[in-house]
Amino acid sequence: MDGMGQNQNIMEYETVALDDADSALVVIDQTKLPAVTELLRLHTAQEIWDAIYLLKVRGAPAIGVAAAFGIYLLAKGINTEDYDTFYRKFCEYQDYLNSARPTAVNLSWALNRMARVCVENRTLPVAEIKRRLRETAQTMKEEDIRVCRAIGEHGLSLVRPGDGILTHCNAGQLATCKYGTATAPIYLGQERGYHFRVYADETRPLLQGARLTAYELQASGVDVTLICDNMCAAVMRNGWINAVFVGCDRVAANGDVANKIGTSVVAAVAERYHVPFYVCAPTSTIDRNTPTGADIVIEERPAREVTDMWYGQPVAPAGVKVYNPAFDVTDNELVTAIVTEYGVLRPPYEAAFRRLFDTQKERL
Ligand code: MRU
Repeated sequence: MDGMGQNQNIMEYETVALDDADSALVVIDQTKLPAVTELLRLHTAQEIWDAIYLLKVRGAPAIGVAAAFGIYLLAKGINTEDYDTFYRKFCEYQDYLNSARPTAVNLSWALNRMARVCVENRTLPVAEIKRRLRETAQTMKEEDIRVCRAIGEHGLSLVRPGDGILTHCNAGQLATCKYGTATAPIYLGQERGYHFRVYADETRPLLQGARLTAYELQASGVDVTLICDNMCAAVMRNGWINAVFVGCDRVAANGDVANKIGTSVVAAVAERYHVPFYVCAPTSTIDRNTPTGADIVIEERPAREVTDMWYGQPVAPAGVKVYNPAFDVTDNELVTAIVTEYGVLRPPYEAAFRRLFDTQKERL
């Protein structure tokens, strides 16, 4: 545990940071926001796994960067000069961290990228491999910031000053290293005086919309209104919403999108009221090895998140049967466009992804 900075604006904190001198991964404990801002210093594999599983650090891109720094620190602690011994232990850590959460592809994507650094440099001394691992994790963090800003620019081209924007869950700065994905157009618009009116779904059961999105938008001076999840139809029917922006945890090859539970409801309602539904996705979230949404593993989480957590007293009868999927899949027909760092992709998505990955071959 580290400092508590109750007087500092939440936007001034780094979501994920490396303190190499102390061999610590430093994250904001997001389960305590907005009431308490507490920085956690994570050293062991178990601490890092727990922080990801318990959503102390959460949001697909932030999980990826946390895992990259985490595995660097664990690799740094492997005490051997022998590459095979080093890499065997590295793979054990990789599998362990990868098991923390199944749906966000950024976790395995980031860990695989770190593993490639080992393999591609296997003829070098282990100390040099460790140095390159640190460099790659740092690069991933810097890339995340650039990518989110680029998503913001492309997303901003889809809306106009004064528009009403609805978002679900938290795909904000707290879910990335800066700007967020779904919030990036909002923050860029804020810089340019667009005066958006933002509606944030509270996002049952873990309330990321209320605790995190409403908090960070308010702290940034954005005009934000918190609504319960069952109010999205009402605000769209009232004509208050010009666009929906959401983040995502994995995009399948056919454009089906897994994101926080409830996202598909918002998409269906948006279609009903002719509101464009935009998914903001770094290309690292597009998983062309997963053919459709039906192939995406949806994380199921403990019942107490629905019955007790975040409430002063239980809100359900003891022992009631609970179904608690953390994510759902939005069918590609409901997705108006996918906003990536390289531009806005329109359906059919399979062809759009092919074109994107062909033209960006060097970078992707
Ligand atoms: O369970 P969480 O809080 O990690 O879920 C987060 C989301 O669903 C986000 O929308 C998604 O990860 C995109 S974050 C830029």
